[in-house]
Amino acid sequence: MDRANADSASHCYQREWLKYPVFAVTELIGVAAVVFVVVWVTKYQEGFAWDGSYSQFNWHPVLMIIGLLFLFGNSIVIFRVLSSVNKFAVKLVHASLHTTSIVCIILALYAVINNKNFNNQPHFFSLHSWVGITTVALFATQFFVGFAAYLFPQFPQDKKEWLMPVHKYLGATIFIMAIVSIVSGIQEQFSFIDTPPKNPYASLPAYGAVGNLVGASAVLFGLGVGLLLTNSAFAKIEKVPYVRFREDDYESEDQ
Ligand code: HEM
Repeated sequence: MDRANADSASHCYQREWLKYPVFAVTELIGVAAVVFVVVWVTKYQEGFAWDGSYSQFNWHPVLMIIGLLFLFGNSIVIFRVLSSVNKFAVKLVHASLHTTSIVCIILALYAVINNKNFNNQPHFFSLHSWVGITTVALFATQFFVGFAAYLFPQFPQDKKEWLMPVHKYLGATIFIMAIVSIVSGIQEQFSFIDTPPKNPYASLPAYGAVGNLVGASAVLFGLGVGLLLTNSAFAKIEKVPYVRFREDDYESEDQ
């Protein structure tokens, strides 16, 4: 390692600790998104039920935000945050978070589809539903392929290696699409109530403000996860001692 690379690695190493406060703030925002959506549907919509009614629909945003935002977001940053923990243990946490996410997603989809059937409403007409169903399909594909490739030792090593960049790219893409789905879903929900001539959303009632906060905290959580994933200072850096091997390294220090 030459001096420039050694300096850059040691500089990154010095800043690696910063990932913990960034992670803590990101987690707080993620928890806030979950709290806001629960308050939104319980205080300003009709709460929860599992009987085909509107209250059944309310499970849809709540479970999607828990599964596709909070748990999925955590599962993709866990390798960065727990970089000093045993890799296999972290893999199991990653797979468990994904499994819990997929249970939430299945229930969230069932809640809205069944609620629409109950009320004889059409399916898959909105932009939100198109982006949403594509996100869910990609998530399910990633889940099954990832499970087979990285938890079954029989899976060929060369294929695992080939798959890893695809797995990382798809993970980040699905996460971004989840945030687009959340924001478009909230906006669509507003469009149902914001009917002329009164357009109640335009005067920003508490219902509108809390809904906005759900979307804003989802976006901020996404920015925190993005920062943790892309900042090279937060990647695991091996402690490599500075090795001198050029003549002038010795000369400059002797002067
Ligand atoms: C990652 C998050 C989300 C995904 C993947 C998602 C996915 C979907 C899908 C696939 C449908 C279509 C169901 C059908 O047509 O039978 C749907 C419907 C709906 N979703 Fe979401 N959703 C998400 C979050 C949200 C959120 C946060 C809200 C906020 C209230 C929301 C509001 C709605 C509404 C109002 C419908 C019914 C109208 C329509 O079909 O577009 N969604 N969602």
